[in-house]
Amino acid sequence: MSPGNKVFGKEWADNLRATNVEKLRTKLSEALGNRTSFTFEIGSGHGHWLAAYAKHNPEEFCLGIDLITERIAKCHRKQTLGQITNVAFLKAEASEVLDALSPTQRLAKIFILYPDPWPKKRHHKNRFINPENLSRLADHAAPGALLHFRTDDPDYYAWTVAELQKHPKWTILDQKPWPFETQTFFEELLKAKNDVIAQKTGD
Ligand SMILES: C[S@@+](CC[C@H](N)C(=O)[O-])C[C@H]1O[C@@H](n2cnc3c(N)ncnc32)[C@H](O)[C@@H]1O
Repeated sequence: MSPGNKVFGKEWADNLRATNVEKLRTKLSEALGNRTSFTFEIGSGHGHWLAAYAKHNPEEFCLGIDLITERIAKCHRKQTLGQITNVAFLKAEASEVLDALSPTQRLAKIFILYPDPWPKKRHHKNRFINPENLSRLADHAAPGALLHFRTDDPDYYAWTVAELQKHPKWTILDQKPWPFETQTFFEELLKAKNDVIAQKTGD
């Protein structure tokens, strides 16, 4: 590929992202209505965890997202069968959702459970936890909001702890208990649990 094509490729990707973010603004306002805060799960997978969490916490409104259409369809089925009215699921990419949120749509709690670990070193750049996404999360988190991260992968766990420790807007809480247990689809497969909970610092 020539350097010219690379520029074209970046411009195309930037335009696609801007279009996706614009469409998500509409979808988010449909899903959230005039709610000003909500519990956010990134990578809901088959929806086991957020459907159960929403049922257990009827006072919270929950939004789950995933990249994969069939998984979101399973989430919708769980929501319908369980008659759960305080949860919405969207097929969407997390950083685009964060860029589409309005300043009044704040994250009260964030859950990232068994995210893709991208174990090969050359793929680490694909991990969701990175300084840019931690800033995006902090920028949209309500004051004092908690970020809950769970993985089976010890290397991704250590990576996430290190990224949170370096980030000026997140503080790891060592003593905070995990708020709600129900096995996710991947937890059932993978078994191991490495948890970190961090709090947004500042306003
Ligand atoms: C390993 S699965 C875990 C699913 C679920 N949390 C569980 O524990 O069963 C990771 C999920 O995150 C989704 N995912 C990965 N990157 C994402 C992103 N940037 N935005 C939204 N979803 C994402 C994938 O499509 C996949 O369903």
